[in-house]
Amino acid sequence: MNKQLLSVTVLLLTVINTFAFKKNEPDSAYLFAYNANGLRFAWSLDKQHWTPVGNNYTFLKSDYGRWGTEKKMINPYLIQGKNKQWVCAWSLNNQTMQFATAQSANLISWKPQSYPYVTSGKNVLRPVISYNPGEDEYTLIYADAEGKYFEVKSKNLNHYSAAKPVNAAAYRNASTVIQMDGKLDGQMFHLPWTDILALKKAYELQDYKSKQNAEQSKDDAFRFSGLKDLTAKITFEPEKPKAISSMLTGIFFEDLNYAADGGLYAELIQNRDFEYNLRDKGFNDKNWNGTYAWAITGKGASMQIDSVAPIHPNNPHYAMVNALSTGATLSNSGFDGITLKKGATYLFSVFTKLAGKERLNLIVKLTSAKAGLIAQTTLKIGQANWQKQAVTLVSSADVADARLELILETAGRFAVDMVSLFPQNTFKNRNNGLRADLAETIAAIRPRFVRFPGGCLAHGDGIANIYNWKNTIGPLESRKPDRNLWGYHQTMGLGYLEYFQFCEDIGAAPVPVIAAGVPCQNSSTGGGGQQGGIPMSEMDAYIQDIADLVEYANGDVKTKWGKKRAEAGHPKPFNLKYIGIGNEDQITEVFAEHFTMIYKALKKIHPEIVIIGTAGPFFEGTDYDAGWQIASELNVPVIDEHYYQSPGWLINNQDFYDNYDRSKSKVYLGEYAASLPGGNKTNLETSLSEALYLTSLERNGDVVSMASYAPLIAKEGHTQWNPDLIYFNNTEVKPTTGYYVQQLYGQNGGDIYFPSTVALSVNQEAVKKRMACSMVKDSATGEITIKLVNLLPVSVNTTLDLNLKQHSFNAIKTVLSGNPADKKVLPLKTNIMLTSGQPVEIPAYSFTVIKFKP
Ligand code: AHR
Repeated sequence: MNKQLLSVTVLLLTVINTFAFKKNEPDSAYLFAYNANGLRFAWSLDKQHWTPVGNNYTFLKSDYGRWGTEKKMINPYLIQGKNKQWVCAWSLNNQTMQFATAQSANLISWKPQSYPYVTSGKNVLRPVISYNPGEDEYTLIYADAEGKYFEVKSKNLNHYSAAKPVNAAAYRNASTVIQMDGKLDGQMFHLPWTDILALKKAYELQDYKSKQNAEQSKDDAFRFSGLKDLTAKITFEPEKPKAISSMLTGIFFEDLNYAADGGLYAELIQNRDFEYNLRDKGFNDKNWNGTYAWAITGKGASMQIDSVAPIHPNNPHYAMVNALSTGATLSNSGFDGITLKKGATYLFSVFTKLAGKERLNLIVKLTSAKAGLIAQTTLKIGQANWQKQAVTLVSSADVADARLELILETAGRFAVDMVSLFPQNTFKNRNNGLRADLAETIAAIRPRFVRFPGGCLAHGDGIANIYNWKNTIGPLESRKPDRNLWGYHQTMGLGYLEYFQFCEDIGAAPVPVIAAGVPCQNSSTGGGGQQGGIPMSEMDAYIQDIADLVEYANGDVKTKWGKKRAEAGHPKPFNLKYIGIGNEDQITEVFAEHFTMIYKALKKIHPEIVIIGTAGPFFEGTDYDAGWQIASELNVPVIDEHYYQSPGWLINNQDFYDNYDRSKSKVYLGEYAASLPGGNKTNLETSLSEALYLTSLERNGDVVSMASYAPLIAKEGHTQWNPDLIYFNNTEVKPTTGYYVQQLYGQNGGDIYFPSTVALSVNQEAVKKRMACSMVKDSATGEITIKLVNLLPVSVNTTLDLNLKQHSFNAIKTVLSGNPADKKVLPLKTNIMLTSGQPVEIPAYSFTVIKFKP
């Protein structure tokens, strides 16, 4: 149990004990467990009058399968089993040959859920579990769709006997019905009152925290009514330096929100490989197929998607164009139109092969409805085998609505694939590179590391969709495109080579994330949930793939994979040092088995690699506890935590890492962001709460080694997840206020932390929590940065007691301030003379960064 949870539990127990000795309370009462898409409780003294524990409060939810449609708890059945341990079993759906169980000592904290498979019957319905102390054994009997009954037995609720048919009489369901806002079906228990009180207190604690989390600046006028401008004295203690992580702030790039194709990857042709597929969008869009974004016009002209003799088996589809007369035109509309810049050069390339006998002339045009013809050239199609041709085109206009047209001068038939149009001006002029303006905006954050390619994308929607780095390297025509679990298509044009190259170009450490041998717990394709993980018989090969990745990044050019890197134009190693194994997975037995296997093997083969484990999707709860337990048992050097929270949570949890055990794993806060309810909005308020929280990460930089906001970028009109740090469309890049917070931290980091104390003129908790500061030194440059965050509605006249040898410094002050609801605020830079003991005005709702060199 982590210290945070421990202190909460201690608090809880103290409260419970206080109440337990109340003279006027019963010794015992009835508890009723019932289902409301999750396990809820009600209590009663007489079995007649029932009171719910908490207001619609659910103590246990099913975590199997896709969000919404599949995470259902059906017919939960609760018992007290071995050593009074609570065990809940439930049915998942009516097609999966699995059921679910979870265990708890107190009905409040639950151990990881398991989803055992059965082999008999049509499905698993209405499971009933019982414990036989004589045999020290659990028996679970379930019905199936045909009305038959089956029984499985287990000593430990991990391994079960094969299912065997039993009589209907063996199925003994002790559920009962009570009346509370209608009839409720469930299980009844008679328990000591203290047990029921503990449930009530657990709910009250959650309720208290929810109220804290809901604190918003819109209520500040009331919360801080009468509060006048404040004064503060901040005393720094440079004589007490603490070494902190020099790579605290980085970025997390996930191919989500069209971040890669149509986004950072500079390719302008959509569906260039004719590989779009109905399954990319779960068969929900019949137009999303090999012809998507393409059109064919001209009398008697047709196009069909073929796969008889592709360029490469990994890229199996191409288009066959049949023109009965002159002028047949195959055109591509790009990603919402093609944006071209006047005078800029574009690299056009294409694979073609003749299907008829006559050689053909192919006119390549860029046209715009507004500006007419923008560029043109002609190619000859003269070979019956696939032939690649490349030419450059110069744009004659600035347009955002261009189309690419491939026009056949005469009648004829030809095959076409890998149609590409790239700006010559990519980020750092890389071949197959990145969109310059977007990449420059990202680079300006000065991230110390880049986590990629996901997120959920990395562990995939089902085993078959787990991201495979080997499919993303080599010549573009041989890369293997895949369905993107966010509901679109990945060409893999932005692959591992390009990710590594980008990291090198911006001076950031690459942090690839590899699935821990299990797909996303929210999977529903190819089965639900983690699907038992990659079969054990395939795990050696899977681990070898990870070892090969290290060789691809770092190996000598004479090694198999190092050679491939060199062939791709990068003989020098990429200095890969970190690998994430797993992404906020549900920490089941299946996960633990796969993760442990990978961790141990990789550590042996590549002890130089720092492996980052995972602690589930939240800052507390079952997966967080179980993830930390595995990390502690295995001595995993770093563990990845994720939490998306409200500003209220960040304000009220600045001590989150203060009590973390420094001898255990370091923390990588791999995904976090603040947002407001009602559409996950961000504004200056959310950004300042992030800035405030980041001061606490700097203070805890000895245990928190890395942190990255998530998600990084999102294309307008194609956004699956809000909020994001940077929005963009084809012509503009739109950083949010949160972007500037990340940039100010990235550009003003340090590796030494100096403690400080803040004495405010008002000694009120809510006030004190909204003013934070940190001082760090970058030992490479000798520069010192002071960060001051004020989330109060009043300004704070602040005296900084620097306690340095020198008294005054030429400093640069950067301030991000405005109204909390502002969405567009730019940092303002000024030169100041910083004098110890002299006041600096810290405006209401602001983030101030002062940098100087002693
Ligand atoms: O950042 C967006 C998603 O949030 C990531 O893919 C996943 O890890 C998390 O749930």
